[in-house]
Amino acid sequence: MTWNHQLILALPLASGASGYVTKSGAGKLPSLGWNSWNMYGCDIDEAKFLAAAQKMIDTGLKDAGYNYVNIDDCWSLKTGRADDGHIKVNTTRFPNGIDGLAKKIHDMDLKIGIYSSAGTANCAGGYAGSLEHEDTDAADWASWGIDYLKYDNCNVPDNWKDQYVFCHPDHVKTNSNGTCTPETTENLAPEGYDWRTSKSFERFNRMKDALAKQDHEILYSMCIWGTADIFSWGNDTGVNWRMSGDISANWDSVTHIINLNSFYLNSVDFWGHNDADMLEVGNNLSDAEARSHFALWAAMKSPLLIGTDLDKLSQSNIDILKNKHLLAFNQDDTVGPPATPYKWGINPDWTYNSTNPAEFWAGDSKDGVLVLMLNTLGETTSKTAAWSEVPGLDASNHRVTDVWTGDDLGCLGEYKADVASHDTAAILVAKEPCT
Ligand SMILES: *[C@@H]1O[C@H](CO)[C@@H](O)[C@H](O)[C@H]1NC(C)=O
Ligand SMILES: *[C@@H]1O[C@H](CO)[C@@H](O)[C@H](O)[C@H]1NC(C)=O
Ligand SMILES: *[C@@H]1O[C@H](CO)[C@@H](O)[C@H](O)[C@H]1NC(C)=O
Ligand SMILES: *[C@@H]1O[C@H](CO)[C@@H](O)[C@H](O)[C@H]1NC(C)=O
Ligand SMILES: *[C@@H]1O[C@H](CO)[C@@H](O)[C@H](O)[C@H]1NC(C)=O
Repeated sequence: MTWNHQLILALPLASGASGYVTKSGAGKLPSLGWNSWNMYGCDIDEAKFLAAAQKMIDTGLKDAGYNYVNIDDCWSLKTGRADDGHIKVNTTRFPNGIDGLAKKIHDMDLKIGIYSSAGTANCAGGYAGSLEHEDTDAADWASWGIDYLKYDNCNVPDNWKDQYVFCHPDHVKTNSNGTCTPETTENLAPEGYDWRTSKSFERFNRMKDALAKQDHEILYSMCIWGTADIFSWGNDTGVNWRMSGDISANWDSVTHIINLNSFYLNSVDFWGHNDADMLEVGNNLSDAEARSHFALWAAMKSPLLIGTDLDKLSQSNIDILKNKHLLAFNQDDTVGPPATPYKWGINPDWTYNSTNPAEFWAGDSKDGVLVLMLNTLGETTSKTAAWSEVPGLDASNHRVTDVWTGDDLGCLGEYKADVASHDTAAILVAKEPCT
């Protein structure tokens, strides 16, 4: 096992942009892995992480690119920070310490992540947060061999609260179209307000700076829920940032997040990704819903963190998570931006609608143009991808590959499909015309 003792550096670019990048290259593309929260909540222990890691290997998920095994909340003692100033690991749950677990995970050629909050306590309550203890905690994690930090946004003390609120439908009252006006929302930031002067910016940048001081590279994932206009400064601070409140294991939550993210995708490119939250594939979604969930998350270039018990995952769901065309799109190292809606479909373009978000999506990649047609309705619907509407394609015939089956569908002038309720038709279209 060789270590990459590299500092995380913010390198100025020729263009003048100065996004956060790492020396190792990790974090240029969306992170892939597994996280304990959606399945286990606080009921975690070393055995569950080792079992998940082993299962990632046995199912081929590791070979498909999933390489982070991430501990979420509740790894420490609920009694808070110890008298010596350090957070103590709950050794009932982790008898070998987190460093012991990290060594085993690294020996499986996987990486390990940990969790804290930019507040006085974590979200589950009682577990110490890292605000004003950033250097101590970052140094402990680095010494344990931690490779990834999910940094949450709970229990912010009054003296660290923002002066203004940012308009985000998950957190403040908005108009029905998702916008805010002084009539709907109190204490909105004035037009042109620079969120880099906010306390949220400072809270999250304190940890960025603490991680940068360590000689073990820790990827920085900001679980900031789309607040504080993270879209305008996230790229300079970490490699990904949550763009919404928490996902839950049902279809309405999936469409709600797709709808929100469709308005925030300008902030996504290499080195900085909107995190649409951890996957619920395997948790209470039908196969059609799991396909749509995964296809959209991959296409939006969200990190893809599996959140289920891999022992119980059906083969069809494993196949969805391993879909080679969608993973290749998500992990494309030549094209940075995500797929975006080119047409809303059931609703007029740019409609804000949580149950029926944009249905027609397209994005460029080195393998061709990925086109998704999501059916948000309750019944099977016929949908057509007309090349003239798809950015990056001209109206001549193009060769089409079915993303789900891998089948070559031939040289087509358009693609028409009957899409089942909540399912998504997904194709890869060659950019060059065919005859
Ligand atoms: C984020 O920063 C990286 C590295 O500087 C840059 O390549 C990328 O284009 C930036 N993203 C956006 C949306 O500007
Ligand atoms: C440590 O973990 C055990 C097992 O889950 C739990 O019962 C106990 O309450 C935890 N201890 C503290 C102090 O959080
Ligand atoms: C959203 O709704 C508000 C209030 O009804 C309206 O004033 C505003 O123009 C709408 N904005 C958009 C982008 O549709
Ligand atoms: C499971 O999904 C159904 C249908 O989307 C939903 O009504 C239910 O609340 C979900 N259960 C959980 C635990 O989220
Ligand atoms: C969302 O769109 C659907 C389909 O057009 C429509 O029936 C529904 O009323 C819309 N929801 C809201 C809250 O406007």
